[in-house]
Amino acid sequence: MTKLSVNINKIATLRNARGGNTPNLLKVAIDIERFGAQGITVHPRPDERHITYKDVYELKKHLTTELNIEGNPQEKKFIDLVLEVKPHQVTLVPDLSNQITSNHGWNTLTHANYLKDTIALFKSHHIRTSIFVDADTAMIEGAKLTGTDRIELYTEEYARQFELNKELAILPYLKASILAQQLKLDINSGHDLNLQNLKYFKQKLPSLSEVSIGHALISDALYFGLENTVQLYLRQLV
Ligand code: PXP
Repeated sequence: MTKLSVNINKIATLRNARGGNTPNLLKVAIDIERFGAQGITVHPRPDERHITYKDVYELKKHLTTELNIEGNPQEKKFIDLVLEVKPHQVTLVPDLSNQITSNHGWNTLTHANYLKDTIALFKSHHIRTSIFVDADTAMIEGAKLTGTDRIELYTEEYARQFELNKELAILPYLKASILAQQLKLDINSGHDLNLQNLKYFKQKLPSLSEVSIGHALISDALYFGLENTVQLYLRQLV
């Protein structure tokens, strides 16, 4: 089974636009769980421009599915947050604080020691770890050496190529998933997955553990409503 973890950053962006509590992030997250999603993802940034650190503590208190916290562990504040909140999963992402969104995976070779130490720290607190990587065999071999439980395949390239030629678009991801399975790394995926490209991705990579989806899902909810949209995404994963 592939779990759907809904990234709720965009809900926080909308809320923050007016400075009040509409929409209510916690209520939306609980409703997303009620509508069937098996997880909630947040990506608190150092400037707290969408998800705030306070949001993460609140979410942990009330969520009943899996909480996945994404971020760059270079910030001590991020490490402290994760260790205190103890989510089900932490996904390490090498993004800069001023980046609009994540746009590359880790170089698991040049950052090998750093990733190894950071992953060991989180694992010693019984937090499952995942690291964001491109669909590149050398990076996945490097990921294995860090001791991480999972990798998250960065799917922006798949989404872009899918529009042109889906058979070609999936090839590097197929290769990456075969290698990850041989190395006994569980596979998550995310970035730019949507109602057009998700079903094919899941059909080709049936062993996916989780997809983390935000932008397209929240945008689709404007047209289809949140409950229907969550259901539509879940249906792509059966
Ligand atoms: N995975 C990671 C590591 C991300 O940074 C993001 C975006 O915050 C996503 C998945 C979700 O991407 P999207 O919003 O395009 O669905």
